[in-house]
Amino acid sequence: MPENQTHAVSILPSALLQVSNLSRHFGGYRAVHKVSFSLTSGAICGLIGPNGAGKTTLFNCLAGFMRPTTGQIWLDGVPIAGASPAKIFASGLARTFQIPRPFPEMSVLENVMLAPTNQIGERFWANWLRMDAVARQERDTREAARHWLSFVGLSDLEQKPARVLSGGQRKLLELARVMVARPKLVLLDEPGAGVNPALLDQIVDKITALNAQGTTFLIIEHNMDLVASLCRPVMVMAQGELLVSGDADTVLADPRVVEAYLGTA
Ligand SMILES: Nc1ncnc2c1ncn2[C@@H]1O[C@H](COP(=O)(O)OP(=O)(O)OP(=O)(O)O)[C@@H](O)[C@H]1O
Ligand SMILES: [Mg+2]
Repeated sequence: MPENQTHAVSILPSALLQVSNLSRHFGGYRAVHKVSFSLTSGAICGLIGPNGAGKTTLFNCLAGFMRPTTGQIWLDGVPIAGASPAKIFASGLARTFQIPRPFPEMSVLENVMLAPTNQIGERFWANWLRMDAVARQERDTREAARHWLSFVGLSDLEQKPARVLSGGQRKLLELARVMVARPKLVLLDEPGAGVNPALLDQIVDKITALNAQGTTFLIIEHNMDLVASLCRPVMVMAQGELLVSGDADTVLADPRVVEAYLGTA
């Protein structure tokens, strides 16, 4: 049986995320094609593959930013394929972006406070009628945002406009932003990209600490040292398909994976 077939299983009771036969086509182009896998609660799973393999497109489908062409996704046994990003976020799945784009003129703190959805203050009449609740919620959100900014080491910059942040600091801001909602599952799109080595160590430490507290991660990353040290299992995508998954050492030595990378070099 081909190795990727082993992922095509029925719903596992222990799976936090279950993906079955997921495809996202653009016209005749198969950006993601028949991808099936499951993710156990508590894992830090890596997702690697050459440029254009379909990794970000898969994230877009999982987080509701793109409607899958076909296929099913369950989060904690609840079907979420095709649901809105806000609904999926509220169900406990949060994602970061490959290229973070914070609101440049808003402060770092305000950017982190934007995260929670369904805020009472978003609805005008509720806002007007329930001022106390709104004020309380804003206070709680501010407190949570400050907590996570401190966690990622950005407290000193909380009043600065987000435009002053370096690429690596923007990655940390993204992490703080998603953590405000205390998600069960966090999808990180290239957390190490453009990050200097010292900051990268910090990001790895933060992910490890959050995982120890129960957060599950799925991480797209091109930095193989980071993947090998942090992720288990590692899944490999190429040309829209899930090629193989397993320990980092095993998958990186797999001839199909070597060929997939060489083929696009
Ligand atoms: N909205 C879209 N319309 C058409 N094609 C798209 C769209 N989004 C992605 N694609 C194509 O789908 C393929 C997969 O893109 P994707 O961004 O998912 O790759 P990736 O694995 O994340 O690559 P990278 O490592 O470079 O970030 C690419 O060929 C891309 O051009
Ligand atoms: Mg990508």
